[in-house]
Amino acid sequence: MNFPAVRMRRMRRDAFSRALMREHTLLPSDLIMVAFVIDGEGKREGIPSMPGVERVSIDGLLELAGECVRLGVPALALFPSPGPAAKSEDAAEAWNPQGLMQRATRALKAKYPDLGLIGDVALDPYTTHGQDGLIDENGYVMNEPTVEALIKMSLAQAEAGMDFVAPSDMMDGRIGAIREALEQAGYIHTRILAYSAKYASSFYGPFRDAVGSAASLGKGNKHTYQMDIGNSDEALREVELDIAEGADAVMVKPGLPYLDVLRRVKDAFGVPTFVYQVSGEYAMLKAAALNGWLNERAVVLETLTAFKRAGADAILTYYALDAARWLRE
Ligand code: PBG
Repeated sequence: MNFPAVRMRRMRRDAFSRALMREHTLLPSDLIMVAFVIDGEGKREGIPSMPGVERVSIDGLLELAGECVRLGVPALALFPSPGPAAKSEDAAEAWNPQGLMQRATRALKAKYPDLGLIGDVALDPYTTHGQDGLIDENGYVMNEPTVEALIKMSLAQAEAGMDFVAPSDMMDGRIGAIREALEQAGYIHTRILAYSAKYASSFYGPFRDAVGSAASLGKGNKHTYQMDIGNSDEALREVELDIAEGADAVMVKPGLPYLDVLRRVKDAFGVPTFVYQVSGEYAMLKAAALNGWLNERAVVLETLTAFKRAGADAILTYYALDAARWLRE
């Protein structure tokens, strides 16, 4: 049957029928806020490449967490931006029980026990060279020694009350190793969000400014562990391994340039699948908005809805609080 029996515009004619046929709707409960924490008190630092995003000390983090709770954003993903004194060759500050992440976690859990907390597990904020792992004399990131460090980091976070540890490092076998260590230590409820399909993307630049790894990394890159941007079968293999090793949720990162990967992952495995709208995506949208070239609210909500349509169950985004506010208006 064809035109005029089929008129696709009939259902689009009125708001009520558009609402009824809408397949995907964005909710505040789909969103995960991303925050950068720094040492000190009453401190806020702007990030030049991410206007509107600040690094905050723990007191400011508590305010941010309060906003999440008030707006119905269920979780906060936490990234540390430790000072130069916390950086070393072996990244030992990452698992200091009194380290920045651990103190932030305890403070957040004490005040907002029901807000989900997701802790970044990777060494880049803590290494002098800005790589996500430990390097050998040639600068190559060593897999097993790095996994041992990530285990210590995960245990320290779990001990502090972290709900999700989220390894963003792309070492082989780290999900299984972390899972086994958590079980053995009795942290049977600590979830693992695996950055499974994490690409060697150039969209992470502003983040590296924010956590202070850009200067350490210098001309270095992460191509020996993050995925090649031309691949998507490989993403399915990564996800399959992480699920087998005990991941509770998997992630595709970055977001908008990788919607095809997101859809393939969700179709192939049907497990909780998260996506990360990364710093460079935020920077693009914000820059266009500040220039008056795009309607910020409309395009942000459009990108976030696109993630849901492509199969995402949850979205990490620097826009989480803004989006939740807009959705509530
Ligand atoms: C590193 C890490 C990165 C991001 C999250 N964790 C950057 C990188 O891999 O260099 C990027 C997040 C963003 O760009 O918003 N462990």
